[in-house]
Amino acid sequence: MVKAVIAGASGGIGQPLSLLMKLCPLVDELALYDVVNTPGVAADLSHISSTAKITGYLPKDDGGKAAMKDADIIIIPAGIPRKPGMTRDDLFKINAGIVKGLIEIAADVAPKAFILVISNPVNSTVPIAAEVLKAKGVFNAQKLFGVTTLDIVRAETFVAEIAGKKTGSELTVPVIGGHSGETIVPLFSQISPSGVTVPDDKYDELVNRVQFGGDEVVKAKDGAGSATLSMAYAGYRFAEKVLKAAKGEKGLVEPSFVYLPGVPGGKEIAEKTGCDFFSVPIELGPNGAEKATNVLGNITAKEQKLLEACTTGLKDNITKGVTFAHNPPQK
Ligand code: NAD
Ligand code: LMR
Repeated sequence: MVKAVIAGASGGIGQPLSLLMKLCPLVDELALYDVVNTPGVAADLSHISSTAKITGYLPKDDGGKAAMKDADIIIIPAGIPRKPGMTRDDLFKINAGIVKGLIEIAADVAPKAFILVISNPVNSTVPIAAEVLKAKGVFNAQKLFGVTTLDIVRAETFVAEIAGKKTGSELTVPVIGGHSGETIVPLFSQISPSGVTVPDDKYDELVNRVQFGGDEVVKAKDGAGSATLSMAYAGYRFAEKVLKAAKGEKGLVEPSFVYLPGVPGGKEIAEKTGCDFFSVPIELGPNGAEKATNVLGNITAKEQKLLEACTTGLKDNITKGVTFAHNPPQK
């Protein structure tokens, strides 16, 4: 029996992600939680003839607890999205408290769940989640993931376009660091299959497009929010890998923003970058993050420069999250 929860299920990401999870044969029960509209979203999805049994919850009657009780996987796309002119950090004021509240519930009623945080700013919301789980005595770094898959999906797509490949899914393009602007570091020197390269005259433009791909969507949506459909795809892709690995499937690797000192292989990467939270390719298994892969050993000089810019900003984002978790503003 696998119980999955989506917290923020009525939103722009939440609805298509709920649809994808409803179609997933690995899910037996799918609980939808949001502060609005979950009865409608749940009723709608419940007419689809796939396996997962659907339930919908609102905050009344401790709906958050009921939704998350004994969950195996909790995916969190709750919170406000950007409008043009905003940075992800501008979302902190509202989303930090939302994520903190949801993780507190998860810690109480589903302490063993895999937790996948989508809500921005990921660079800070994941440290908040870790601190809340630590304070509740249930933190397992191998089970807490900041979802950075959209950066990888974008990198695959954009590289495929310039490399003349039919589809980006033929490619693996590691993207490491954090999830905002310069903290996003694509490693084009480590694309596989080997032989696919980014020409020098396209390098800067492509790095910029991967780092600021989110802005492209925010601008095009013109005030109506940020990436939702591509994010639902990316969130599902990551969640499906976590569930397959939990069932014993081998060879599943995807970058994710994790607490490195708590993941095997992560300590040396944390020492090298000076960042405890960082996205690197993660080997997934029954326990979650089984191994963090150190891809920093043979990066190019250009990538080293990107890495330096990344860690400078990322350290501040992480500290901001940790500080908030310990001293949330009084209501
Ligand atoms: P949205 O406004 O369409 O949906 C957010 C949903 O969260 C709404 O339905 C809202 O009611 C709900 N919500 C608010 N507070 C809640 C709470 N306390 N408990 C449960 N639900 C709550 O926004 P969206 O476009 O779906 O984006 C959601 C978040 O995901 C944003 O913060 C956005 O920046 C982020 N995002 C992250 C990535 C990534 O790569 N990690 C990509 C895209 C968007
Ligand atoms: C993205 O990368 O599309 C998301 O983080 C949403 C955003 O604010 O850009």
